Amino acid sequence: MRSDTAPAIRLEDYSPAPYTIEAVALDMQLAPKATQVHARLTIRRLTDTLPGTPLVLDGGGLELTSLSVNGVAIPVESYTVTPDKLELLSPPSEPFELEIGTRIDPDANTQLEGLYRSSGTYCTQCEAEGFRRITYFLDRPDVLAVYTTRIEARKSEAPILLGNGNPVESGPVPDKPERHFAIWHDPHPKPSYLFAMVAGDLAHVADSFTTRSGRNVDLKIYVEHGREDKCDWAMDSLKRSMRWDEEVFGCEYDLDVFNIVAVSDFNMGAMENKGLNIFNDKYVLADQDTATDQDYANIEAVIAHEYFHNWTGNRITCRDWFQLCLKEGLTVFRDQEFSSDMRSRAVKRISDVRLLKSHQFPEDAGPLAHPVRPRKYTEINNFYTATVYEKGAEVVRMLKTLVGADGFKAGTDLYFQRHDGEATTIEAFLACFAEVSGQDLSHFALWYEQAGTPLVEVESSYDATAQSLTLQISQEIAPLPGQADSKPAVIPIRFGLIGSDGADMSFDKVEGAEVRQDCLILSQRRQTVRFSGVSERPALSLLRGFSAPVKLHAPEKDQDLAFRAAHDSDPFNRWQASQTLATQSLLRLVRAAEAGEELVADSVVLDVFGSILSDGSLDPAFRALSLQLPGEADLAREIGKNVDPTAVLKARDALRAALGSTHMDLLRAALSQRESGPFDPGAEAAGKRALANQALAYFAASDASDAALIVNDLFDRADNMTDRLAALTLLVHGDLPGAQAALEAFRNRHETSSLALDKWFMVQATAPLSSTLETVRDLAGHRLFDENNPNRVRSLVHAFATGNPSQFGRPDGAGFSFVADHVLALDARNPQVAARLLTCFRSWRAYEAQRSSHAEAALQRISEAENLSRDSRDIVDRCLQ
Ligand code: PHE
Ligand code: ZN
Repeated sequence: MRSDTAPAIRLEDYSPAPYTIEAVALDMQLAPKATQVHARLTIRRLTDTLPGTPLVLDGGGLELTSLSVNGVAIPVESYTVTPDKLELLSPPSEPFELEIGTRIDPDANTQLEGLYRSSGTYCTQCEAEGFRRITYFLDRPDVLAVYTTRIEARKSEAPILLGNGNPVESGPVPDKPERHFAIWHDPHPKPSYLFAMVAGDLAHVADSFTTRSGRNVDLKIYVEHGREDKCDWAMDSLKRSMRWDEEVFGCEYDLDVFNIVAVSDFNMGAMENKGLNIFNDKYVLADQDTATDQDYANIEAVIAHEYFHNWTGNRITCRDWFQLCLKEGLTVFRDQEFSSDMRSRAVKRISDVRLLKSHQFPEDAGPLAHPVRPRKYTEINNFYTATVYEKGAEVVRMLKTLVGADGFKAGTDLYFQRHDGEATTIEAFLACFAEVSGQDLSHFALWYEQAGTPLVEVESSYDATAQSLTLQISQEIAPLPGQADSKPAVIPIRFGLIGSDGADMSFDKVEGAEVRQDCLILSQRRQTVRFSGVSERPALSLLRGFSAPVKLHAPEKDQDLAFRAAHDSDPFNRWQASQTLATQSLLRLVRAAEAGEELVADSVVLDVFGSILSDGSLDPAFRALSLQLPGEADLAREIGKNVDPTAVLKARDALRAALGSTHMDLLRAALSQRESGPFDPGAEAAGKRALANQALAYFAASDASDAALIVNDLFDRADNMTDRLAALTLLVHGDLPGAQAALEAFRNRHETSSLALDKWFMVQATAPLSSTLETVRDLAGHRLFDENNPNRVRSLVHAFATGNPSQFGRPDGAGFSFVADHVLALDARNPQVAARLLTCFRSWRAYEAQRSSHAEAALQRISEAENLSRDSRDIVDRCLQ
């Protein structure tokens, strides 16, 4: 039977709960299959609530074992209960204590929400609505309570017992010699989604941090035994985050301990539970042999992100889940700024924009598009999206551009001071910046309300006699499901006019738009902007630093792009110019491939790439990024409709081969510059590795007769995961001699590191070869594959669906069908992960007819499945709408 679509929850329907819960005392008697939870809730009727109003608590598959009010068991006629709801028909008017006993089964919990076990360790995941799977509760973010947690377990099974806040007491349980307990108290009122507890046999590493006002904080990272030596980088990142947040945002830590636990089964990246962050171990564990430079950078960013939530999310939380971007967009912005300060700002910005364009832009252009602050949802877990996170961060970045650095600092200061201890809204956040800057931000607020990526089109003309430059600018969002037309937004466009000497030119005045410093502020559907006093025809550099999350179309000749790729003073736009040049050239090659013509690469692209390759004055990490071609998915997005992923792959391969063969000598030289010496995970050394491996990639694509030999040699000699994986990827993806032997060597070497094995699965899943689907099918049956481990599923099925456009999008539809099978199999066990996997179909309408009909059939098959979860039902319905 087809599951019915759940009713939508709407922002406009928000109203506070009639009661509040001020204190929670939890007692958790842990046992793998029958954990007994006893909750004592201190509940108060709100003054606006009529006495006798029923109290409705949320539950999630719970079994009630006892119930009392103020210490007295209550009669059955005064409440109703189901696994998903507990209703007190006429609760006391005065504050009262409600005691609830529930029994839960952590081992049966395959959806990894609520209390579950990961490799034997008990752990919890409560965001967004997991707490209701532990006890009946007002499980909503605007109910803030003080929690005391008593955890009891068998000492041999769980010598470590952790909760939120500070440790209070621990010891043996009287009369039960095999059991022990610990009590934790968190003095900061918090919503239930920030509750956590962990119990298990874990090792740890310890350090400490002294806050600027002198509080000594014990820092601990808990991991499975034997992994202690992989925590150094995470710990170092944590201490740097704590210092940075004090220095840059004035945010100080507020407990005596800060604990991080790494678990291997986790639906998401990590979770900011108060004082007890729980992490996917992928974002904690690193050493030279098993982690790539990208892993190190991710760990630094995610550790910072979760730590920064302590203020943006925990001290100040969200009133309701529609406000999710209040904590996520702001916290992503903060972690991006942190990484920029730790690394190269330009390189970080380029990487973030690449991610935004590859993940958020397609989301915002298809059936899953939604505003940064959605107005309705049926399943909140489906709104932890690139739009809420990454576009949400871009909106905060634009806000900073508009109010200026000082205004932004004053605004965040006011926000922290005014809303500390509250569950609040985007309106309250924006009001702080409006107040300190004196600016009216009501038009700007549209960025939170409107879905879709604005297309900004610019046509320029230069009048030499009048010495004036005129720009005709328009903005438009293409129609989306549920959003037929759009309103013009406030768009800050940072710009420069580059003269023939390569320097930014001055101008006298600007008419037709507001200009603040180097920023043009658009606000209308169409604007004509006129610069006077412009002494020669400039090369126009628009959207510097990617100052707004828009698609910019400003027709530019290849020669101008090449000029800016060499001279733009804004490093982001220098990178963008070379990318645009490569994109234009690749799109021409795609058309040639579709027409069955010969694929000849444009010489201007070959030249520009050659200059970047040989320009030793540039930061290696920047050069590596500039040498990277737009991905297949990026090109598909540019093409927009009637996409044939095979033609895209052919075009890209042709340009890679041409670049490799044209610059063989430069590449050989770059390869020989590979550094040896002790491993350093820092950004500078990582940049050099990135450049060397980018050079290696082109060399491998060239017609050099010794290419395979050199890649095999580097694979054998690599002393770190970045280089080893780079070489392995080239061997496998290029189907080079030695690939199979290298795969086997890699697997043998890393047999006991599941994070490294994930990479082994991923390399094979993303190979653009016609044999890949068969390989991936075999791997799904491999003894090392584990359908219950989200990281493993992501490394095989998700990697195939999102990282292998030509094979997922096979013309016979077999790729779609394979992924659909996995969505269906997963859905019964872990709906969140299944629904996320399902989103890889979101751009199905952009394929050419044959492929899109196969994709639609796969979606139909999912849609017709019996008992589909609410998570997957929501995604499939929206995809097909
Ligand atoms: N709040 C987490 C973060 O972004 C993400 C998360 C959401 C984790 C839901 C688990 C469940 O930091
Ligand atoms: Zn977050």
